[in-house]
Amino acid sequence: MSSFPTVRLRRLRAQEGSRRMVRETSVHASSLILPVFVDPALRKPQSIPSLPGLTRYPPEGLLPLARRAERAHLGGLLLFGRPLRKDPQGSGAWDEEGSVPRALRSLRSRTRLLLAADVCLCAYTTDGHCGYWRDGGLDNDRSLPSVARVAVSYARAGADWLAPSAMLDGQVQALREALDGSGHSDRAILAYSAKSASAFYDPFREVEGSSPRQGDRKGYQMDYGNAREALREMAMDVEEGADLVMVKPGLPQLDLLARARERFQLPLAVYQVSGEYAMMKDAARAGHLTESRAVPEVLTAFRRAGADVILSYYALEAVEQGWI
Ligand code: PBG
Repeated sequence: MSSFPTVRLRRLRAQEGSRRMVRETSVHASSLILPVFVDPALRKPQSIPSLPGLTRYPPEGLLPLARRAERAHLGGLLLFGRPLRKDPQGSGAWDEEGSVPRALRSLRSRTRLLLAADVCLCAYTTDGHCGYWRDGGLDNDRSLPSVARVAVSYARAGADWLAPSAMLDGQVQALREALDGSGHSDRAILAYSAKSASAFYDPFREVEGSSPRQGDRKGYQMDYGNAREALREMAMDVEEGADLVMVKPGLPQLDLLARARERFQLPLAVYQVSGEYAMMKDAARAGHLTESRAVPEVLTAFRRAGADVILSYYALEAVEQGWI
């Protein structure tokens, strides 16, 4: 008998204890990575207006945050930097004295947290694009050596994971070759593979000052209407040597995560991006939802859809507040 009235699915929902026992999905702190902003112009930490509750840090000022992340047993940190001055080449991105290498060096010998670093040029070039902009488009192949150079610089400073986010064709292969060629075959690549040209990155671009000066990113980031193409992007990154592939943004692309889970055996990551975070913060402030219930619901949805790793601005708060 597999139907009502013999079967009543509500029986196991009746008590908290049985609900907890039969719950299929859980979120652990160790699956969470907290994105962190580093700004070399700062002397002390400063709150971020576009991302309520978040702070940006001077390059050598991350240790207290790292200690909190350790105490919370977070999976790790993902570092974003910016230069003191932008230039057409985005040379600040691979500068060994740049914000990310400085932050990595200051943390590396003091923590066993996993340290990941975003690899892109958009915060460093005067054009504000993720590679070199020419005649209204991104010059893919001329940009590849530069993003590879950035990855090597971050690896040298101690990054465990390099996360290329420029959506250049061939960027994973370029990074893998450059890392292997520079003695960093032990460093992993977290590929932003299915990254859409999304409206949900705006608060991030405000923090990073990384909005394109002209044009937009639709010529390189994916069209959010395309699921089959997203699977091709991921398959190609796997082929090029990615250790993990990522879907971004998160909630708007939950289906891509679920489909990737069925298709790939390697670990999957999802990025709950700045706009998704800001939206929930604002809704909570307006009294439309309660974070202690809404945040675990969303994080659980990412895990249920198939994510092993979740990058979220809520990572630390969710653990410290006991929401997960
Ligand atoms: C850099 C990069 C972006 C994000 C992560 N890496 C911005 C963009 O592509 O414009 C967005 C993250 C977020 O919104 O939280 N290319």
